[in-house]
Amino acid sequence: MRMPAELDPETLRALLAAARSARRRAHAPYSTFKVGAAVLDERGRIHAGANVENASYPEGWCAETSALAAFVAAGGKRVRALAVAAHSKVPTTPCGGCRQRLAEFAQADCWVFATGAQASPAAPQRWTLGELLPHRFGPPALRRRRAGTERLR
Ligand code: THU
Repeated sequence: MRMPAELDPETLRALLAAARSARRRAHAPYSTFKVGAAVLDERGRIHAGANVENASYPEGWCAETSALAAFVAAGGKRVRALAVAAHSKVPTTPCGGCRQRLAEFAQADCWVFATGAQASPAAPQRWTLGELLPHRFGPPALRRRRAGTERLR
């Protein structure tokens, strides 16, 4: 896959800062694993969110999901990049469910940045959505199915 264009350094800084700032407001009293996330939309706007845990453990959700909800509520249509901020030694990449949620709004060339306790927070590790979720199921599959169904009628 062709690698996507670089984000300009100022935008990347702002995206990481938004994820880190959301992390401070995470509600994670059970795992104590606070996570913040921020998405960059097609208009250059940034939408952030944090993980929200619950006393009924399975009802909690991830920071990426919160950020995507904020993006949708603000009228965002396409995610260009996502940043995740946690304090883990191993960089925190979005869980499988959040990769799938991101894929609803992003192309394979969407950047995913992870910043955490690693040596240089200014140089986050990064992947593309295509690397993190290859052969994904997404909206195009349903469009093909609908087209196929029409032919069967
Ligand atoms: N978590 C996230 O918010 N994002 C991730 O990418 C991984 C995990 C949250 C879910 C839960 O509140 C806590 O981290 C521990 O799994």
